[in-house]
Parts: sequence; C-alpha cells; structure tokens
Amino acid sequence: MIITKPRTNLDVMLDRVTQAARSPEAIRPAAVGEALADFVHDPQLLAGIACPCCPDRYIRHLLHADPEGGFAVVALVWRPGQMSPIHAHHTWCALGVHRGTLTESFYQRGADGQEPTTTATCLRRAGDISHGAADPDVIHRLANLGGTNALSIHVYGVPYERFGSDVNLVYSA
Ligand SMILES: [Fe+2]
Repeated sequence: MIITKPRTNLDVMLDRVTQAARSPEAIRPAAVGEALADFVHDPQLLAGIACPCCPDRYIRHLLHADPEGGFAVVALVWRPGQMSPIHAHHTWCALGVHRGTLTESFYQRGADGQEPTTTATCLRRAGDISHGAADPDVIHRLANLGGTNALSIHVYGVPYERFGSDVNLVYSA
C-alpha cells in the first residue's frame, strides 16, 4: 500500500519558489518574492517544523535545498534586539516575514573606507516581502527591534552548503 502524504501549503510554496527560481536572472528575485508573498502570511505554514531561536544571535534553519543546487530556503529566527550585519549579497535573494516585524535599513557605501550610511528604513511586517539582486551596492541590515520573536523565510541563489561563504558581503557588524 502506498500512503501519500497530503501536500501542505509549504509544499505548494516551495513548488512556486522553485518555478520562480528558474526564471530569467533579471526577474528572478522579484518572482521568488512574489511566490513567497502568496504564502508567507499563513500562520500554519511551518506547522510541525521546529524553528527554535538562539539566545546569542539570529539563527537559520534549512527548510528546503534545491536538488539542482540552484537555491536554498531557510527560516531565520530573530529574538528581540537581534540583527544581521550591514551587508550586500553575492547572490540574488528574496525574503518574506512570517511572524513578527523586522526593520530593514538600506545603506550607501561610505567614502574612503568609512562606515556605510543609512539611506532608508522600512518596517517589514508579517506577510511583507523584500528582494534584491547580487549587487555590492544593494546594502541592507535586518533587525528585530520589536518585543517578540520574529521569523522570516529567505531564499538565496546558492546551495545551502555555500551559505557561509557565498551569501553575505559584510560591510559592518
Ligand atoms: Fe540580506
């Protein structure tokens, strides 16, 4: 007897993300962001998947690795006060906020090795998305400045094994 597991909303989202990640490079980050936008607000999206936080820093949990190695999908869990470094990306990326609220700040490079300076700040609430190309001048930081944990779902265009070296171009901690 073959038992077929019912497809979850997460399965459907990952199919949509996979399809979008195969689209032409110029539209890929926006297409993946749109795929996330249709699902990321669903409170049951990660039902049954443990995504614990870490007291010391924001932490990621692998949700899906593309079998072809083109991308991976992770959940990032942010306790109040936890934030990313100021960074750009070596790869395209898209994210959607699942729970809580994140503050996304954008920066321009400082002249002559100075610290980057802030150019804009946006609140990203549950259901909101953001995306960007691989571009050393698209510089941002995500931070949980709220009072409750936040969880965001991110897609990056490299295999998960390369996340440590090939995702973030860090400008400042
Ligand atoms: Fe980023």
